[in-house]
Parts: sequence; structure tokens; C-alpha cells
Amino acid sequence: MFGRRRFEVKTAGQLQRMREAGLVVAQALTAAARAVQPGVTTAELDEVSASVIAEAGALPSFLGYHGYPAHVCVSVNDEVIHGIPGPRVLAPGDLVSIDCGAIVQGWHGDAAVTVVCGGRTDDASARLSEVTEAALWAGIAAARVGATIGDVGHAIAERVAAAGTGYGIVDGFTGHGIGSAMHMTPDVPNVGRPGRGPRLVAGMAIAIEPMITLAGDDTDTLDDGWTVVTTTGVRAAHWEHTVVVTPAGPWVTTAPDGGGLADDVALASFG
Ligand code: MF3
Ligand code: CO
Repeated sequence: MFGRRRFEVKTAGQLQRMREAGLVVAQALTAAARAVQPGVTTAELDEVSASVIAEAGALPSFLGYHGYPAHVCVSVNDEVIHGIPGPRVLAPGDLVSIDCGAIVQGWHGDAAVTVVCGGRTDDASARLSEVTEAALWAGIAAARVGATIGDVGHAIAERVAAAGTGYGIVDGFTGHGIGSAMHMTPDVPNVGRPGRGPRLVAGMAIAIEPMITLAGDDTDTLDDGWTVVTTTGVRAAHWEHTVVVTPAGPWVTTAPDGGGLADDVALASFG
């Protein structure tokens, strides 16, 4: 299954399971993002996601992962990733990242979105989320057969740089290979040099996940052992998709439209 390289190469049947898992994640995130309103607790977002996953007959990948206690991560404002859902009440203008993973018949999907809680406009936060999502899609576009992990990171970093000075690319956390487990080789950094790093082959899957701040790249982990925050307290955004490298181009299993590549075309491209 790992071919002659050290990365898991999937069969068409396995990719179909990954697509199913990805669509469950997309549904859970859509429902949770819609539930983001002033007065709602982050625990309620966890409940919304949990019921979508359960109703789909899928399993949550985060629950119990190294002891993680919830179905999603909800990271607010200066929290970058791995925020634990709880009694925190969302306020107008909060910048809310939701990260979710699901498993269908042993195969994983992993994605994250960032939204601004309604009721107050905060242009800097909305723009930060837009830049982070655009950087994600720049990375996805680079995830082609024959390209390298360095090309993906380079595309992400270039897109962030093109958005203006000031933005920070969080140091020390990366995307990852994904498939029969949530976290697999290779690491997928949000920076890179063109042509460097492992080469992408058809049938590989990677989770690409830029984590971008309004300034600086340093983080701390809170005493809960999970929540990663910016050291300076500035806000951060996080967007993520699971992407399959196919001969027909990147296939985004966690996007309802596959990232513009139809399921049958993606699967048929493996021949
Ligand atoms: N989905 C996260 C990632 O993108 C990992 C979540 S950690 C967990 O890699 F403990 F919450 F599962
Ligand atoms: Co991930």
C-alpha cells in the first residue's frame, strides 16, 4: 500500500471511503459554522458537529485522540488551533475557527474553517480569514502529481506575502499526510522552497492547513495541554482541507464540489 516510497498510496475504493468521510466533515463544519452566533457556547458547536457525524454513521476522529475530549476543536480570537469546546460564550466579532475530522470505514477526512461571529464587523479579522482561506487554495492548486511538498508550502507562503506585510505564518505546526490515520507522513509545512521535499504521487492524500496570524509566528500552549495561542495575543485564522493528488489534479474530499474536480473524473483518472 505504501509503494516504493514511505507514503500511503490509496486505491480507488479507499479514496471513495475518504470522499465519504470528507463529505461528512464538510456537512459537520457547515452546520457548526451556521450555529456560530453571539450567545452560543463553543460546547454547542461541538454538539452540532457530533450529531452530524453520528447521523451520517461516521466516527469522530478527534474524540479520544491522545486523550482529546471533544469532536471538534474551536479556537477563538488569539487561539490558533486545538481549542477545547466548553462553556465559553461567543461574542459579536469573535473570530472562530472550527476543526473537524471524521472516519468512514477506517478512512479519514479532516478540515477546518474560520468565521467571524455576527453582530459586529471587524474588517481586520474578516480579511485575515479570507487571506488564510486563499492561502489554503493556493496550496491546494500546487498539490499536483510530480510537484513537491516544498511547492505546496511555497505557494501558501507566497499567497500570504501577496496579501501584504504583517501577517505571520505560525511556526511549529504543519499539515500532514492522511488516509488510514488522521496524521501520517509527510508533514506539510506552510512554507517551503520550490522543488524541495518529498514528491507527490497519484493516490497520496494530504491535509493542507495554513495557520495565519495578524502578526508574528510564535505560540504558547495553555495549561489545558491543548489550546495553542499566539504569544502576543493577536488573532489567528485556520483553514484546512483534505486533498487527494490525482492525475486529473487536486481532488478536495472535504469540499462539497471536490474543489472543482468531479468525483467520477477524479476516480477515473487513476485508470
Ligand atoms: N485536525 C487537527 C489537524 O488538523 C488535529 C486535531 S487534534 C485533536 O491536524 F486532538 F483534536 F484531534
Ligand atoms: Co489536520
